[in-house]
Amino acid sequence: MTPFHYENKGLTRYIKASGCAAKLDPSDLKQSLGNIIGSNARLLSSISSNEDAGVFALERGLNLVQTLDFITPVVDDPYIFGQIAAANSLSDVFAMGAKALTAMNIAGFDKCHFDSEILSEIFHGAKSKINECGAVLVGGHTIETPENIFGLSVTGIVGDNFWANNTAQVGDLLILTKPLGSGVLATCIKGGALSLEQIKEAADLMSMLNFYAVNALQNIKVSAATDVTGFGFLGHLSEMLRDEISFEIYVNSVPVSRTAKHFANSGIIPEGSYKNLAFCEKFCSKTPEILLCDAQTSGGLILSITEKDAFKALASLKSVGYEEAEIVGAVKSRGEFAINLL
Ligand code: CO
Ligand code: CO
Repeated sequence: MTPFHYENKGLTRYIKASGCAAKLDPSDLKQSLGNIIGSNARLLSSISSNEDAGVFALERGLNLVQTLDFITPVVDDPYIFGQIAAANSLSDVFAMGAKALTAMNIAGFDKCHFDSEILSEIFHGAKSKINECGAVLVGGHTIETPENIFGLSVTGIVGDNFWANNTAQVGDLLILTKPLGSGVLATCIKGGALSLEQIKEAADLMSMLNFYAVNALQNIKVSAATDVTGFGFLGHLSEMLRDEISFEIYVNSVPVSRTAKHFANSGIIPEGSYKNLAFCEKFCSKTPEILLCDAQTSGGLILSITEKDAFKALASLKSVGYEEAEIVGAVKSRGEFAINLL
């Protein structure tokens, strides 16, 4: 194992000038994006079904997957930030069960406060993740901004049986591949509250690619999938709902980082997680624990798989490195609540 190299270059040290804590939730996004993406016979999937990646038909059996994502620093080390931002951006391609082909950098760089060497380290970190999943970096664009931002635009391909987010079937079980808590951990990093060992845990969690899950499930039918990011576990789960189905969640089986749990218990919760909680409460059987709503950076996948295949899928996911993956719930016919927290 290579030693953990982490240099604190102050990347997360940015305070919003306005002090505004407003945050978009899925309903805001729906409203503002509502009519922009029209329908097209070749557009098989898009924001209109709450998908983060668009799927565009090229020919029978071959579809283009396109996505773009960027974030502000969640760790102080530029190389590791690049890795995390890349893993986060690539994730929306893997959440469709697709293969990533090419990626382009999107960067906003605060040249006033940081040396351009930092930008180069961010790019190198990202490239290591692009290479890790066999994709190719083909270019990018950088502008000067008051806060550092970085992400990728990713292009991939997938067959006709891609993983949509809204096709879960009654009788399926739900698997979550990574533990929750990266929002709390990133907030702790900003506050300087974590030991180096805890920073490593957080960095490993966020930089782990969802790529391996796609490979591990090659021979298993996935009814539906999404990745867990800014709206938290329950927020993204709600995007998988349809009027006919409910989700039953085994709250105590949901994997959560122990370090995150510890700090959340002492009250370190990112602002966005409370906003998520207020949004999710409306369709849950009871007020959820805050970590179920914690805004994730590069979180895991939620996979809906038949009961028959779910245990095989779980074993396969664990064997490729998602050691904390768990069966966290089941898909039922619509009951009293859209999401029933057990
Ligand atoms: Co995304
Ligand atoms: Co996503």
